[in-house]
Amino acid sequence: MIRIQEHVDLFPYNTFKIAAKARYFTSVTTVADLRELINHPVYKQHKHLIMGGGSNMLLTGDYDGLVIKNDLRGIETVSENDSTVTLKAGAGEPWHAFVIFCVTNNYGGVENLSLIPGTIGAAPMQNIGAYGVEVKDLIKTVEAVDTSSGEMHVFTNAECEFGYRESVFKRKLKGKYFISSVTLTLTKKNHVLNTSYGAIQQTLDQQQSVPSIKSISDAVIAIRQQKLPDPKVIGNAGSFFKNPTIDQSQYESIKKDYPEMPGYTSENQQVKVPAGWLIEQCGWKGKRIGDVGVHPHQALVLVNYGNGSGENIQSLAQDILASVKKKFAIDLQPEVNII
Ligand code: EPU
Repeated sequence: MIRIQEHVDLFPYNTFKIAAKARYFTSVTTVADLRELINHPVYKQHKHLIMGGGSNMLLTGDYDGLVIKNDLRGIETVSENDSTVTLKAGAGEPWHAFVIFCVTNNYGGVENLSLIPGTIGAAPMQNIGAYGVEVKDLIKTVEAVDTSSGEMHVFTNAECEFGYRESVFKRKLKGKYFISSVTLTLTKKNHVLNTSYGAIQQTLDQQQSVPSIKSISDAVIAIRQQKLPDPKVIGNAGSFFKNPTIDQSQYESIKKDYPEMPGYTSENQQVKVPAGWLIEQCGWKGKRIGDVGVHPHQALVLVNYGNGSGENIQSLAQDILASVKKKFAIDLQPEVNII
């Protein structure tokens, strides 16, 4: 049975800790709830915003529509054999709780994605990734309900059209599906451990740890805690911008002036460059303007020190965009969803 509340403060539901209100708000805990909601007049007459952990969005003002909090929970084993296990997790399950479930059971694949804020449902939405692993490599299917008809559709991995921080759910099917669960396949033995990201190997060496699912997860947690602000303490939404890709020729021309510029070759003579480095070169790292700012340890993360508004963050982001464009002729794209 669904309950629709009015004029709800969204402060507890977004990790940027922006004080904005939803005209209507409801929480959905079952697919049946969702189908009931689809026939409700408030749903039919207003725009909707589906919310998971609220960890990848910037609310720039009150939301004059219906916010639907995805609270579908549970982790179940779909199938297993000697070497792999396939798990289905409810979209409202916190991502990190799922990772810990896997680490505790020695299921391999998600350990590099430890401590990422947000929910299971948001993971395929933006193809979360960190330390050399992207969730697209583990996802088998995504189960989602059509937000107009209430029909369930099972998306294969290919149908999700995953890219770097991209999927079909963020692009052509935006707002058309409510992700209800995600099915992932993990290893039970012969784990493929990924320690290629420099800081992981360094942390394991410092701790004199042998690479294992548990030691990698612990190393990633330690690295994230050092570099990234805890949203429970300082409002933020992780990386605010995506890492841009530029032509090899532009990369080489910038490198003449900045020989230490990092870059990773991707497809078609393109180079991915860290937006954090570009932003730091423009002098933004650690800068504070009123109650918002750029994190002192990672320039890609914008923070709300307390009473910053969505507009304050947006205006800071625009100033950063303009200065990166001016200095390097590179256009940054936001990674967070601006609402
Ligand atoms: N760098 C700087 N200054 C900074 C930040 C970074 O010079 O202020 C340089 C670093 O020295 C390094 C390079 O940029 O050479 C890359 O930095 P880092 O390893 O911290 O990763 P990132 O590219 O800034 C990406 C993801 C993160 C993810 C890390 C680790 C994006 C948009 N961000 O950040 O994801 O945790 O790699 O894999 O791709 C997120 O999406 O919210 C997120 C935190």
